[in-house]
Amino acid sequence: MTAHEQQCRTSLSSRWEKHLRRHCETAGKTATMVVKGRVKRVVGLTIEAVGIHAPIGARCQIYMGDSVVESEVVGFAGSSTYLMPAGDSRGLMPNARIIPGEASYDAKVGDGLLGRVVDASGNPLDGRGRIDYSCRQPLLGTSINPLERWPIDTPLDVGVRAINAILSVGRGQRIGLFAGSGVGKSVLLGMMTKYTNADVVVVGLIGERGREVKEFVENILGEDGRQKAVVVASPADNPPLLRMHGAWLATAVAEYYRDQGKHVLLLMDSLTRFAQAQREIALAIGEPPATKGYPPSAFARLPQLVERAGNGEQGGGSITAFYTVLAEGDDQNDPVVDSARAILDGHIVLSRELAESGHYPAIDIEASVSRVMSDIVSDQHKQAAQRFRQLYSTYHKNQDLISVGAYKPGSDPRVDEAILYYPKLVQFLHQDRNQAEGFEQSYQELLAITEPESINENDAEAVIE
Ligand SMILES: Nc1ncnc2c1ncn2[C@@H]1O[C@H](COP(=O)(O)OP(=O)(O)O)[C@@H](O)[C@H]1O
Ligand SMILES: [Mg+2]
Repeated sequence: MTAHEQQCRTSLSSRWEKHLRRHCETAGKTATMVVKGRVKRVVGLTIEAVGIHAPIGARCQIYMGDSVVESEVVGFAGSSTYLMPAGDSRGLMPNARIIPGEASYDAKVGDGLLGRVVDASGNPLDGRGRIDYSCRQPLLGTSINPLERWPIDTPLDVGVRAINAILSVGRGQRIGLFAGSGVGKSVLLGMMTKYTNADVVVVGLIGERGREVKEFVENILGEDGRQKAVVVASPADNPPLLRMHGAWLATAVAEYYRDQGKHVLLLMDSLTRFAQAQREIALAIGEPPATKGYPPSAFARLPQLVERAGNGEQGGGSITAFYTVLAEGDDQNDPVVDSARAILDGHIVLSRELAESGHYPAIDIEASVSRVMSDIVSDQHKQAAQRFRQLYSTYHKNQDLISVGAYKPGSDPRVDEAILYYPKLVQFLHQDRNQAEGFEQSYQELLAITEPESINENDAEAVIE
């Protein structure tokens, strides 16, 4: 044995001993755990282990040579335990030693996170030095008694006119943002990050391409958007378990600030990628697929994640959350779309047709709804929003006739009125991405454009002619 090999072995065995000692201290608290195990088999991402006795969700370390692979217990059968890597698994070898650690993963949180970009394990990605974490809390959160949650009763200013005025969002509401790719989800989330009247904004970028993460942080968010934001990024090349950890960590960070009484905006892009990560894990350990390749556990995970957002107890903070959901090719039968619709308090649909015609933000007002709006705005606001919707949808129903000149002015007074109002409605929905529009201002403008006097006599005569 060379001197170098000797040195490596010594350092390895002392590290191993240190870990064992540390582990025994933890194991004292969780008496069910057995100290050592070995890797028996690896198929795809699933690691089959023998000799360990640890609960689902337990954190395990696999020692190979001088590297350690972080992993988590995801299932068991007979005497085998199935693990998934929660990090880089290169170099995994047969018979590698496994040591179970804590019974569940913790999220490291603290005020030092503000303005930072971290990965799913909380390590900084932005090269701005280490982060001081002041505390740990469960990665999977702690549930709040639903009867003790404060009801949603206050509107939240998100800085986007169409949403403030017609799809008003309440503090503690959870909304889905349904859209295909490239129709402006990221830009809209960026606008909300910058302009929302929230104390802290937490952005979870889950399963995106790495390039998109950089683009979101540098171009869309910019320096001023970053100052009151925490970004947790777990791009597509992370193993599925880590992508799920990313979504959980972002939620845990939001919970940390909420528990301090702050009003938090949580933006999760995307819920679909989160469900897909669970699908990858569940299929790998042998759960049968149920709907479009998704096993039942993928749908069970969604409400567990989404229910963590919302208001805290009376007088406490809140988490208002937007979850993007990929709806490719207007596929409204996608099971994640269906499931998300059922568990969220409203949905905003972005339309490819509008985006292609340069109408941004490409919000399809007719297909979108905020389920709490009627509880949080005044009657006058509700009526104005309803009138806006009626005018807009009357025009759209008759658009084909109108655009080919087949509609004869005067045949239906409601259509005549809609034609008069339509240009103003469209103008109202447009908003420059670099411009914020407050809640009160959005409401006043909505009142102004929907009141009957806003169209003058000359316009009316022009339509009749
Ligand atoms: N509000 C906007 N104003 C102008 N252009 C926009 C706006 N929103 C989106 N776009 C255009 O659409 C492109 C795709 O938007 P992006 O937000 O990246 O889509 P997604 O996240 O849905 O894939 C952007 O690069 C930009 O050119
Ligand atoms: Mg995007």
